[in-house]
Amino acid sequence: MCGIVGYVGKNKCRDVLVDSLRRLEYRGYDSAGIAVFEGEKIKTVKAKGKINEGLALKLEETGELEATAGIGHTRWATHGEPSDINSHPIGNGRVSIVHNGIIENYRELKNFLISKGYGFESETDTETVAKLLDYYYDGDPLEAISKALKDIQGAYALGIMFRQHKNKIYAVRKESPLIVGKGENESYIASDVTAILEYTREYYLLEQNEIAVLSEKGVKFYDLHGNDFEKELQTADWDISAAQKGGYKHFMIKEIHEQPAAIRNTVSPRVKDGLPDFTECGLTIDRIKSYRSIYIVGCGSAMHAGLVGKALIEKLARVPVVVDIASEFRYKDPIVTADDLVVIISQSGETADTLAALKLSKSIGADTFAVVNVVGSSIAREADMVMYTNAGPEISVCSTKAYAVQVAFMYLFAFQVAYAMEKINEKECRELTAELMGMPEIIQTCIDSEEKYQYIASKIMNADSLMYIGRGLDHALSMEGSLKLKEISYIHSEAYAAGELKHGTISLITEDVPVIAIATQRDLFEKTVSNVREVKARGAKVVMVCREDVEIDKASVNYKVGLPTVSDLLMPLVTVVPLQMIAYYTAVSRGCDVDQPRNLAKSVTVE
Ligand code: F6R
Repeated sequence: MCGIVGYVGKNKCRDVLVDSLRRLEYRGYDSAGIAVFEGEKIKTVKAKGKINEGLALKLEETGELEATAGIGHTRWATHGEPSDINSHPIGNGRVSIVHNGIIENYRELKNFLISKGYGFESETDTETVAKLLDYYYDGDPLEAISKALKDIQGAYALGIMFRQHKNKIYAVRKESPLIVGKGENESYIASDVTAILEYTREYYLLEQNEIAVLSEKGVKFYDLHGNDFEKELQTADWDISAAQKGGYKHFMIKEIHEQPAAIRNTVSPRVKDGLPDFTECGLTIDRIKSYRSIYIVGCGSAMHAGLVGKALIEKLARVPVVVDIASEFRYKDPIVTADDLVVIISQSGETADTLAALKLSKSIGADTFAVVNVVGSSIAREADMVMYTNAGPEISVCSTKAYAVQVAFMYLFAFQVAYAMEKINEKECRELTAELMGMPEIIQTCIDSEEKYQYIASKIMNADSLMYIGRGLDHALSMEGSLKLKEISYIHSEAYAAGELKHGTISLITEDVPVIAIATQRDLFEKTVSNVREVKARGAKVVMVCREDVEIDKASVNYKVGLPTVSDLLMPLVTVVPLQMIAYYTAVSRGCDVDQPRNLAKSVTVE
């Protein structure tokens, strides 16, 4: 989704703005631009396309800029196609803004402004905000911002420049993320901290409707009534190398390799004396015992991690769990009560639908427990309890390590719930926890088998469509595997419960539709093999992902991907590696933009 940056300081700002925008490229975008105070004017340079294809070329033509303050933006189109005109910054020479979010009442505002004599050039909702600020501006930027915000409905993070207030940047947010960085004699705004890590690790978290004013003297904060106040400085513990490729061709493959360390960082801090312990997050055993039922809500891969959690919790703790897609949950009038726990899963902590699901659950009175990667994100701040997954920055749009740590959390959580409900005893809980803690080494051995996955990728890369099948936990994994493949390689694929295939979908199977069958659960193995024989009989080429020690007759499968043997329950943590790697190498072989797949954004801050 859109990325915002801004800089005020003693140095020329053009390169700082462009470098920071490059660090936000991972969020997904289709145009980019900057606006700076050049002489007595606001100079804007913006273009459709990726930075290298558009903005960078235009800036070369523009030549040297002396400006030491400005704002920048990467736009992910929502209102109006990607074009130079619709790119941000947007303004009229007096006011210039960058915006992330959606202005819901922009039509109303536009009609109002047209009635006041304003003209509009772009198709964006953002232009109404720029013109509204101009309309209310009467020499006092804070007053103009406060008045405009009263009229605006929707979500926004805004970086604002007023021509008459040279070298000052105003920043404000509601729902959409924005942080304010503090350097030596310079300050920054950014959609997330990775954009400015090269310059500073100190930053302020801007809360809803707080206004930050950045000037050469530093940063000041105001409320909507113009009263100033102090804020606490935060320090990012991610360093810049975590947000760089470090010799890997893509962030995605780097992040797959980081999974063992990421899982260690998620699990270890929540194990005390050999047992899971979430009391530091506020989730005590007594609290767990008091819940009537558990909901797990998220989007995409985060929701898929919830499906693994459901299978684990129901199996171990015999407690019913409802897993829901956040965009469905928020509008279905869910049967959540004040006696329930709602676990909210999100890597970014900014996903609009997931945030809305959290707010809805809170309004009903349920306890909310957020499992989030990005520290200080909206979901983390809004939830009653929060557990950070400590995976470090995930830059690739396609989630890998963030999913793996969400699944790792699900194990610890399931063990904790089962122990609290007295469905497993202390000894069993310790044994399960110890096995989980040993998983990073085993996952590493799967990661080391890269050539095997490259070979499978070479066999499926020309297919137009694939089918992933599995039962139970393997079905949950097949959904994640299918999502990985389609989002980065653009090959259509579908995930199906293996036993359900013959009730309709098997008619899609031909010799041109490879099947990836996942069969890691011993009690279901023969059942899945029967389904494999059914597709094989219809000509499909079958890739079987299973334990390395099982024998499968060669007539049933074409390729076997053998996995190290761990207990059935823990197999998902090793199974996901080949699924991620097969998707990765397939996308690479097809020449796809692996880290920034078309149409996708890393942090989906609009619904
Ligand atoms: C898939 C992927 C998405 C995200 C989803 C939720 O690879 O990355 O499906 O998992 O958009 O994002 P978060 O976890 O940030 O809420």
